[in-house]
Amino acid sequence: MGTTTKTVPPVTLTQRHLLGIEGMPVTEIEALLARSHFFASVIDGSIPDSDIPQSLAGKTVVNLFFENSTRTRVSFEVAAKKLGGSVLNIAVSGSSVKKGETLIDTATTLNAMHPDILVIRHHAAGAPLLLSRHVDAAVINAGDGRHEHPTQALLDALTISRKFGRIAGLKIAICGDIANSRVARSNLYLLGTLGAELRLVSPATLLPADIDQFGVPVFTDLESGIADCDIVMMLRLQTERMQGREIPSQHEYFNMFGLDEAKLMRAAPQALIMHPGPMNRGVEIDSVIADDIDRSLITTQVEMGVAARMACLEALIVGASI
Ligand code: CP
Repeated sequence: MGTTTKTVPPVTLTQRHLLGIEGMPVTEIEALLARSHFFASVIDGSIPDSDIPQSLAGKTVVNLFFENSTRTRVSFEVAAKKLGGSVLNIAVSGSSVKKGETLIDTATTLNAMHPDILVIRHHAAGAPLLLSRHVDAAVINAGDGRHEHPTQALLDALTISRKFGRIAGLKIAICGDIANSRVARSNLYLLGTLGAELRLVSPATLLPADIDQFGVPVFTDLESGIADCDIVMMLRLQTERMQGREIPSQHEYFNMFGLDEAKLMRAAPQALIMHPGPMNRGVEIDSVIADDIDRSLITTQVEMGVAARMACLEALIVGASI
């Protein structure tokens, strides 16, 4: 962790696709993070741009997003272009999906144009896996329903390890809408695998039924849950996946589970704040905390997204050529 030398090699993965963190060998997670550190050093200027390997030269990445995105879609595009690749962004709202074309038909149509990597975000859990069975391209899951968001977990781990120099042993509270969060799920797998001391903090109504499988302490009170934590990771309320009865109101939710200066006093004195974005200010997090450049890692997370996605894109291309 924290490696910034030029000697960090590209990663090869055992899988042809990047569909989730669950089941990914720890050696591959660590290798992707080490390579992401290298790319982060290029982005922060400590290694010259001329040292960026053009691993995607002549390769095409297709961004196929069935749900809205700013950070993930743009950072995949920036990452691919930094590696010398071409990028096509499919606007689903202007595509034949709106005429009733199925996911499989859309995928096989795109596949016929021979892209090298398909980056997909979809509201249905398992859509990237399904698509991976019908295309020749490598598939990257850019978020599928409540299931996983693997590159978000990688960029979060990269952000943490660049700031703290380690992940093992850090006390990290993941707080908010756990039930509907693919970010929480991928981070539970990834940060847990790397030895973080994880806790979940959520109203009982926003906890998933299978919460026990993760074997981490669960708190239904924010201040108890974040006590002495090194990192407080807040999550967005995923209202698009809710039934409408989970919280009394957003105002009540902020009073109980929104992070503000008073509640943050319970965390470790130097605790840092994360949020995958997009944020709902005054719902999950107070602006004073979100914009505190000494405590908030939210902008750094976005920066690290480019580095982590460069490592992932490169790994799938390098793997395909072996
Ligand atoms: N964190 C995240 O996935 O953000 P976007 O929805 O903007 O991609």
